[in-house]
Amino acid sequence: MSALNTTALKIISSGKGILATDESTGTMTKRLESVNVISNSENRLKFRNILFSSEAMNNCIGGVILYDETIKQKVNSETISEIISKTDTIPGIKVDIGVKNLSSSKEEKITEGLDGLRERLNEYFSLGARFTKWRGVYKITETLPSKLAIFTNAHALARYSSLAQEAGMVPIVEPEVLMDGSHAYKECYKKTSEVIKRCFEELILQKVDLKGIILKPNMILPGNESNEKINSEQVAELTLKCLTENVPKEVPGIAFLSGGQTEVQATENLNMINLKNNSNFIITYSYGRALQQNALKYWSNNQDDINGTQEIFNHRAKMCTLAAKGQWNKELEKN
Ligand code: G3H
Repeated sequence: MSALNTTALKIISSGKGILATDESTGTMTKRLESVNVISNSENRLKFRNILFSSEAMNNCIGGVILYDETIKQKVNSETISEIISKTDTIPGIKVDIGVKNLSSSKEEKITEGLDGLRERLNEYFSLGARFTKWRGVYKITETLPSKLAIFTNAHALARYSSLAQEAGMVPIVEPEVLMDGSHAYKECYKKTSEVIKRCFEELILQKVDLKGIILKPNMILPGNESNEKINSEQVAELTLKCLTENVPKEVPGIAFLSGGQTEVQATENLNMINLKNNSNFIITYSYGRALQQNALKYWSNNQDDINGTQEIFNHRAKMCTLAAKGQWNKELEKN
């Protein structure tokens, strides 16, 4: 077993999942301002550190994705990586620097951050990170994502992955096909399949060790502006079909993004996927909003109540971990 494979398995085994606190400063500012909290580095750290020092870190969270600002911050002379590692959770880092318009297809995006990446990766390793994340983003319309967006983003994801592995860190490969739009779930299935297939063609071409990556995809869902409704069984069946058809068997695990689903929807769908999973993939969560939303809302009105905020986060992480084992049910949400 390679060291990268060991790290990947440690992050996602036994129902553990990933806490994604890698919102860029711009995104975190929107999240904090939406609950009337001033977005400064002190407040961003305050909220995040409440999560990092919660009970859920010991038994639910296998890895935390940090943002550049956070991995360089300290609490009482302890680095954030040290605080996270004390709970036997692995610190990770988002290494892309965000999206820009794709020059030949202006409605689409390309993720940037390859220039100087080797040096940045070495710095992040020295700051304690042992895994990394890069997000490619694809929009669905009748004609999109274009072949160009699918190819260029896959190429960038593979170049990033190869560099991350060279630096001794597990790359999380995140091709996110957005839920935004009025498309039908069948479109989401078709386009997500195309995107994932192309990503693996590039990863293989660029000799990325597939046993040392984690895939972070979207679930198969109808667009959030479509009137179509599908139940969690259909979500699970289509998502599993898409993954088993397009993800090579060497990949140890899949950790979904929540992508705008509510906390309970993201939990229910993950649970059903695990109940129906006949593959060898470990399937778990790498949630941002679906782990933090309620905790953030509560904290914004009760900033001195650290225990109360942690209780809400602990509950959510526990529900997600049960879902990652296929042991969740709606009744448990009431406790
Ligand atoms: O890149 C996206 C985040 O890591 C996951 O965020 O679960 O809110 O979609 P989300």
